[in-house]
Amino acid sequence: MDLLLPSLIERQLDSIRLGKPIHHYVQLGSTNDIADQLAGDGAPEGTMVVTEHQTHGRGRLGRSWFSQKGKDLCFSLVLRPDVPLGNLSCLSLILGIAVGDAIEKISGLKPDLKWPNDLLVNGKKCCGILSEVKTEFGEVKYLIVGIGINVNAKVVSKGLSMTASTLFQQTGQEISRSQLLVEILNCFEPFYFEFLEQKIKPLLDLWVKKSSYAEDRWVVVKQMDHSFQGITQGLGRHGALLVKRGEGCVEEVLAGDIIEWGKKVTRS
Ligand code: BTN
Repeated sequence: MDLLLPSLIERQLDSIRLGKPIHHYVQLGSTNDIADQLAGDGAPEGTMVVTEHQTHGRGRLGRSWFSQKGKDLCFSLVLRPDVPLGNLSCLSLILGIAVGDAIEKISGLKPDLKWPNDLLVNGKKCCGILSEVKTEFGEVKYLIVGIGINVNAKVVSKGLSMTASTLFQQTGQEISRSQLLVEILNCFEPFYFEFLEQKIKPLLDLWVKKSSYAEDRWVVVKQMDHSFQGITQGLGRHGALLVKRGEGCVEEVLAGDIIEWGKKVTRS
């Protein structure tokens, strides 16, 4: 049994802060909700909530996140970054780089990064990140980052097979969830410390390098009340997606979703 036991994980962690302590649940509703309760009660930065079975997982933009008992990886971290509120949107991009690196180390797959928070393998989503901020008087009190990865299931949930996949489906091999989790924390912590020192530009550059969506890609972006199309032009300050709509008009998208996309455009 590949259980996510704290004793097993702690033994392999190189991190100083992340994953300390670990709260392990056999079953819960949403790891983000439990992490939020713990953070509200004063849990330290780095506290992690992980479960074998998440029954009411939440995704971005009010969507649900489905995961399979004992097969997938669902966990959340409490972070208390002392940085300006505007910088926080970069954090889930940076976490995405670390999750991609960890997946590559453990499975050999090379996930693509789709703005803002999706990791795709062969065009199908295998990981999503949900970042939720608690503020007080305009200042960051804490942040919960929740990561869901489709790991060992043989099939994805009903209706998702065209757009989502699991690492097992992509490699034909079972992956140790505990090893993957350890690797994510080990990969993310050095990036997180750089983020705390506000060395953000090199990390955003790295994200652009690792993403096939970041530049020269035709996309349709959906925002709250409208959608528009254009060609991606990299990331702006604070991790906004830059999208060229017409001659000279570049939109900075801070919140939204890429809902359609084409092949990369070759520059003339
Ligand atoms: C998305 O792609 O929309 C984000 C999905 C995030 C899912 C994870 S699973 C662990 C954590 N707990 C939740 O309820 N959601 C996140």
